[in-house]
Amino acid sequence: MIQTAVVGCGYWGPNLIRNFVACPLTELAWVYDMDPQKMDRATRMYPTVRKAAGLTDILNDPGVSAVAIATPVNAHFEIARACLESGKHVLLEKPLASSVAQGEELVRLAHERGLQLMCDHTFCYTGAVRKTKELIDSGALGDVLYFDSIRINLGLFQQDVNVIWDLAPHDLSILDFLVGRRPASVSAHGIAHTGNGIENIAYVTLRYSSDFIAHFHLNWLSPVKIRRTIIGGSEKMLVWDDLEPGETIKIYDKGIIVKHGEEEKRNRLLVSYRSADMYAPRVDDGEALAMMVKEFAEAVEANRPALTDGEAGLRVLRVLEATQRSIKADGANVQIA
Ligand SMILES: NC(=O)c1ccc[n+]([C@@H]2O[C@H](COP(=O)([O-])OP(=O)(O)OC[C@H]3O[C@@H](n4cnc5c(N)ncnc54)[C@H](O)[C@@H]3O)[C@@H](O)[C@H]2O)c1
Repeated sequence: MIQTAVVGCGYWGPNLIRNFVACPLTELAWVYDMDPQKMDRATRMYPTVRKAAGLTDILNDPGVSAVAIATPVNAHFEIARACLESGKHVLLEKPLASSVAQGEELVRLAHERGLQLMCDHTFCYTGAVRKTKELIDSGALGDVLYFDSIRINLGLFQQDVNVIWDLAPHDLSILDFLVGRRPASVSAHGIAHTGNGIENIAYVTLRYSSDFIAHFHLNWLSPVKIRRTIIGGSEKMLVWDDLEPGETIKIYDKGIIVKHGEEEKRNRLLVSYRSADMYAPRVDDGEALAMMVKEFAEAVEANRPALTDGEAGLRVLRVLEATQRSIKADGANVQIA
């Protein structure tokens, strides 16, 4: 049993607490939140879990080998660094940190100490994304041509991060996991309607060295909630609607057949359309967070990188930072390191 602690008992922390208690590979020893009332509320169901008076209670407990951190993003770095320096494996909520520099420092530290650093890219553990990965890897969609996602609703306006840092880590981590290609550049537009410079709508386009393209539409000011991704392949196209239970994923056997005109009409494109069946594969509806916690525990146990390790978190941070620069430069194409 891996002895663990959870830091941050606000909105998301209790979900981690529940899953660390339920996971057969882990035992939750401590929780900590700077707000004692949040800590009391989060541990009401778990009387044996100790409430820390400060982070040092956890850092000084040699029995604790792993810490999960669900504080606001601006506190991720300091807490994660202290945990790694005390020899604890770390699971960080998304996004990994507030900047690429911080993310690189955490990855370096974990590597140097031989510890596991993982980022909770929750969606990568959902049945829908795992099924999509299986379909892409098997070649069922053919060559993947584009990824187009809409993540909009009347969202909670955050005080410290804009809509990109809040919502895009989901889509960027899904894209990174599914297609495994590294974007070359980003162009993005965003707007802040609240007068505080924190963008609440953004349109983001990623370009690659191939003809693959990705686009994200993120919005906290939409009257309706839409969570839809289209992945276009040369053979088949996939539509994932996260709000449609039972038929979350649909595969369309649709596409185009392109022929070039012969000789004198060589430049003329002849496009014909192919339209066959649609089917909705069965998708595992187990809780993604339970899978994620299990993956963390197994990675710690085997001392191997987790599926969504610190490097994956860092790749997302690189795109987030470049996107932010593009928005401030009114949509300029910004290279991604
Ligand atoms: N994976 C997901 O789908 C998902 C969903 C929601 C939130 N999140 C992530 O979870 C993290 C927390 O988000 P939230 O919505 O729960 O925020 P929240 O504000 O509701 O909760 C954060 C908690 O951290 C505590 N805290 C702040 N600074 C601290 C410190 N230095 N030491 C100890 N406690 C501290 C606060 O008192 C608060 O209780 C963020 O990184 C967010 O991006 C992930």
